[in-house]
Amino acid sequence: MTLTVAVLFLGSCVSITSNTMASGQEFEVTVHTSPGPTCGTFNRLWLSLIGSQGETPPVEVNEGEHHLLSGSVCPVRVQANGPLGCVVLVRLRLEAQVGLPNLNWHCSRVEVRRIAGEWAPEDPDVQVFLGDRWLQTADGDVELRSGKLCLLQDETEEKLKQQRVKELQLQQRLIRWRQFVDGAPQCIDLSSASDLGPNLSYKHKSPSTNTHYLKGLDGRAEAWTSLQEFETVFLQNSRQNSIASKKPHHREATVRLTNGNVVDVLSISGFIRAHWTEDWYFGHQCLNGCNPLLLRQIHALPPNLPVTSDLLRPFLPEGSSIDLELQKGNLYLLDYEVLDGIPANVINGKQSYLSAPLCLLHLNQQGQLVPIAIQLQQTPGPQNPVFLPSDSGCDWLLAKMWVHGADFQCHQLVSHYLRTHMMAELVCVATLRQLPPVHPLHQLLMPHVRTSLQINHGARASLLAPNGVFDKAVGCGLEALPVLLSRSSRRISYRSMCVPDDVRDRGVDKLPQSYYSQDALRVWTALHRFALRWVDLYYSGDDVVQQDSELQQWIAELHAHGFVHSTGFPQVFHTKAEVTKFVTMVIFSCSALHAAVNFSQLDFALWLPNCPMSMLRPPPQVKGSVTEDDITSFLPDVNVSCRVLASLSLLSQPAVDFVPLCHYREPVFGNDVHRRLLQEVQAELDAISSDIAKRNSHLELPYPYLSPTHIDNSVAI
Ligand SMILES: *[C@@H]1O[C@H](CO)[C@@H](O)[C@H](O)[C@H]1NC(C)=O
Ligand SMILES: *[C@@H]1O[C@H](CO)[C@@H](O)[C@H](O)[C@H]1NC(C)=O
Ligand SMILES: *[C@@H]1O[C@H](CO)[C@@H](O)[C@H](O)[C@H]1NC(C)=O
Ligand SMILES: [Fe+2]
Repeated sequence: MTLTVAVLFLGSCVSITSNTMASGQEFEVTVHTSPGPTCGTFNRLWLSLIGSQGETPPVEVNEGEHHLLSGSVCPVRVQANGPLGCVVLVRLRLEAQVGLPNLNWHCSRVEVRRIAGEWAPEDPDVQVFLGDRWLQTADGDVELRSGKLCLLQDETEEKLKQQRVKELQLQQRLIRWRQFVDGAPQCIDLSSASDLGPNLSYKHKSPSTNTHYLKGLDGRAEAWTSLQEFETVFLQNSRQNSIASKKPHHREATVRLTNGNVVDVLSISGFIRAHWTEDWYFGHQCLNGCNPLLLRQIHALPPNLPVTSDLLRPFLPEGSSIDLELQKGNLYLLDYEVLDGIPANVINGKQSYLSAPLCLLHLNQQGQLVPIAIQLQQTPGPQNPVFLPSDSGCDWLLAKMWVHGADFQCHQLVSHYLRTHMMAELVCVATLRQLPPVHPLHQLLMPHVRTSLQINHGARASLLAPNGVFDKAVGCGLEALPVLLSRSSRRISYRSMCVPDDVRDRGVDKLPQSYYSQDALRVWTALHRFALRWVDLYYSGDDVVQQDSELQQWIAELHAHGFVHSTGFPQVFHTKAEVTKFVTMVIFSCSALHAAVNFSQLDFALWLPNCPMSMLRPPPQVKGSVTEDDITSFLPDVNVSCRVLASLSLLSQPAVDFVPLCHYREPVFGNDVHRRLLQEVQAELDAISSDIAKRNSHLELPYPYLSPTHIDNSVAI
């Protein structure tokens, strides 16, 4: 392995121009089949070497006693009968054998050793041509290149330039864009998941979930009679959850305390059950819950929230006023304006309701962020009262539940689906179409985005489709979904996708208990350093960036098919710094951000009153209209709640092949130069993980989601 790796980077072959010297060359070629259990094939394999000046006739590799078995190495002698020059490509072709199944073959690599003939002393003895992909008979001729990554303008061989262009043309025919929602990023055009083929598919083995305790409830289309009744069901399912957490894999989803005890997912949701009605905990969730992306500091009140210092005096420090608190930067806002007027779903044959709340929060003298005013709809008026902490307990609790209900929609569809899943798919499709595999950014980004094609296709065919959980159980159903996705795509700015800009713009970077933003900044910084070193390897200056036509096509396509309406999203790259920032943003969104918004969802939503996915009665238009018994009548029906709980449990199955952030299995990451960069970033991420573990051990309520050891390298669920 080390040998292979060293050879890969010995530089390119030096051309030999003299025909007499080059003729009579002989090579020993070894064909390596990948070791996976299904990598072998019965098919016949033909191989020829393509040189800068000529090519060898095809020879059969698996003749006689040589078979393409998984993990095997097949040697074959290849002779050039004319001038060849230096070998630049290896051409392979699979052919089915009569009577035997036509199986795809996973080629690891081909190594070419010169054994006879003359060549320049600088030329390597062994050249390695990388496969690392599935080949099939339908492909016809497939050409493998050496594992050395390079930019188009650095190609020295005309044949390699052409090969690059041909490869992209082929990909552009196979991988096409499709509009999913007008105004939102486009997706891949597939008629079925099997069209992805083995190169772009992966296995997410789902162990069967235990829905035993939910099953008997799936016909009960009526409201919960009390919170106690809900609690009974919650506890049965929580127990199941804690059993699941005994599995070694699931232990990834746990929080380790200093005393060595392990707190599992259940304990966090148990904590939520105990504290969900408390104001400090409402504020804490805005910073450290499953949707930490919305809260922002304000310097002026929104014009549509008619509150005065007189009204809010009891909730502000003695002698202070709204203006003073605004000046000090102590006022924060949640604004769900994007939900305004969105049509709410009909669930179990009943109309459900959405609201578009404004919620004002205050950073008090104890350093707690607490809500001090909630208006459930955007337009102020007599039928849209501003709820206050001094209102009756039920009014205030219900107002906070409405805010969380609105947050559920934005969390699932905007923070989770749009910002991570759709982003990953957008980048994946553009990369396959515009950057050939030999481009250094193709190799760096694909491991982070590859799984998104299959997972998103699956989501569009099930979760987001007719009869899926959004259709059957969520306030934003199939009618609302395109409206919300399209609106939010227009409103998301590029700055909000980049952590340092985002947390500074929202004024959450300096808050002492803003663990999401502290951890996100550290992870971003480590990723940024890594991306910078990678970019430095291949781009010596800004002019190289400007001249890389593949890179420019790529970003133009990302802009045109992605966030064309959103402010600041780049459409050209002028500098290395811009490329580095963009690459960091992509890696962060597909790994860390996904972990922050996905991994936390079960914790916060399992106790459903904390996170109602739909509301069955309209937002109250007057104060004092609800009693404690009424609260549950706003919540979704029994069987709707259970449907969501079952879905969430399913989504919480541990990934079978979890790959931690910045760990790569692809062979190009094995060479010395790349490996050094990986060691650096991995060491930095490990240090962040242990700092986070240390910090969490002192916290009553730890924030584990952005600990790099828990972050998956890609959007895998
Ligand atoms: C895998 O990818 C390679 C290179 O893009 C392509 O030639 C081949 O057809 C793909 N294999 C399958 C089975 O789709
Ligand atoms: C709830 O039960 C009703 C009546 O049995 C059924 O029509 C409806 O589809 C169920 N809803 C869900 C989300 O399972
Ligand atoms: C998504 O979150 C669930 C818990 O809600 C977790 O089990 C799963 O592993 C997470 N997936 C990823 C890729 O982080
Ligand atoms: Fe996800």
